[in-house]
Amino acid sequence: MKWFVVAAVAVCLLVPNSHCASNTVDWCYHDSSCNDSTWPTIAAPFCNGTRQSPINIVSASATGNADLTAFTFENYNDNSVLEKIENTGKTVKVAIKTGVKISGGGLSESYDSLQFHLHWGSGSSVPGSEHTVDGKRYPMELHIVNSKSSLNGNTTLAVADSTGLAALGFFIEVMSGNATGQPASWKNLTSYLSSIPLSGDSTTIKLAISLDDLLEGVDRTKYYRYLGSLTTPSCNEAVVWTVFKDPIMVSKDLIDLFSTTLRISSNSSSPLMVNVYRNVQSAQPVTTQHSGCGSITATVTSYFLGLALSFMLATSWN
Ligand SMILES: *[C@@H]1O[C@H](CO)[C@@H](O)[C@H](O)[C@H]1NC(C)=O
Ligand SMILES: *[C@@H]1O[C@H](CO)[C@@H](O)[C@H](O)[C@H]1NC(C)=O
Ligand SMILES: *[C@@H]1O[C@H](CO)[C@@H](O)[C@H](O)[C@H]1NC(C)=O
Ligand SMILES: *[C@@H]1O[C@H](CO)[C@@H](O)[C@H](O)[C@H]1NC(C)=O
Ligand SMILES: *[C@@H]1O[C@H](CO)[C@@H](O)[C@H](O)[C@H]1NC(C)=O
Ligand SMILES: *[C@@H]1O[C@H](CO)[C@@H](O)[C@H](O)[C@H]1NC(C)=O
Ligand SMILES: [Zn+2]
Repeated sequence: MKWFVVAAVAVCLLVPNSHCASNTVDWCYHDSSCNDSTWPTIAAPFCNGTRQSPINIVSASATGNADLTAFTFENYNDNSVLEKIENTGKTVKVAIKTGVKISGGGLSESYDSLQFHLHWGSGSSVPGSEHTVDGKRYPMELHIVNSKSSLNGNTTLAVADSTGLAALGFFIEVMSGNATGQPASWKNLTSYLSSIPLSGDSTTIKLAISLDDLLEGVDRTKYYRYLGSLTTPSCNEAVVWTVFKDPIMVSKDLIDLFSTTLRISSNSSSPLMVNVYRNVQSAQPVTTQHSGCGSITATVTSYFLGLALSFMLATSWN
């Protein structure tokens, strides 16, 4: 780990004019000269690992897992827990106040919800979710990052533990029809984007917005689960991933604000922040709720079909 930090600083010093944040290696998303193809080299030993995220989820290959019970969301209904919204140059990050937690959902213990951030493409027409399902990429993806409560917010310990972090992934889909400014919670959240156009900008959240409001319309008992990694360098393989099946529906105008308002550096002439997602990595075993149901239904159906067929055969023989 020490070697890695030293190397990262060296890379930062060698790249002039770059947005090197403290001790992290300089990296980019989708640029012809700088993109995620180099992460395994510039951010080894983790970005070159074997349980990397995101992945394409093949729904038909997800096996049943009876442990994947409902989550308990603590203080997700509190509309004063969102603290601060920040343009990091790579994403928009919202810090969550202490006392917000998740448990259940097949997790080994409770996890503290620390922050959420988003991934997007270039407007609603160029999708930019990180996970894909059966090859479908959604316009955006929301990640709520949670850290094992027993680690007391020590992120060094969390990224060194194979289940130290629990990430909740929510797809964002364009609301049908011509709605604008919907839903109200997302109207509230995105109203802050114009206050943080440049990397490093941040502002306090004063509007009343709860996490439950932002997750409106999602059945949070239906999700995929797999073990993966952080999707940005240093890509630590420390994440229990939960990817919810239902998307959050947001109107097109609000989705488009992300790729038209935010810039990647503190220079107001710097490029707009677009296509901020990592490409999919090697497949991992994925589980989900009672996928056994499908096969039970199939078995029962073929049993009754068989019965009906025997009856027809028997009667036709009379
Ligand atoms: C990614 O960057 C590399 C150089 O680091 C370049 O050769 C490659 O063409 C880029 N890929 C894309 C898709 O732009
Ligand atoms: C990743 O890179 C590290 C450091 O170069 C190396 O020790 C490790 O074996 C590599 N891992 C894989 C899976 O190739
Ligand atoms: C995190 O835990 C490590 C190991 O116990 C310790 O060295 C470090 O100081 C802790 N960091 C913080 C911020 O408390
Ligand atoms: C959306 O707006 C277009 C153009 O104004 C209109 O033709 C269309 O019927 C509207 N669709 C819906 C679902 O309201
Ligand atoms: C939006 O913010 C206003 C002002 O704080 C608040 O009254 C309203 O309930 C919020 N709506 C949602 C859905 O977050
Ligand atoms: C901002 O970016 C523009 C265009 O890339 C460049 O000409 C200018 O020198 C930059 N300004 C600063 C303060 O870096
Ligand atoms: Zn993320």
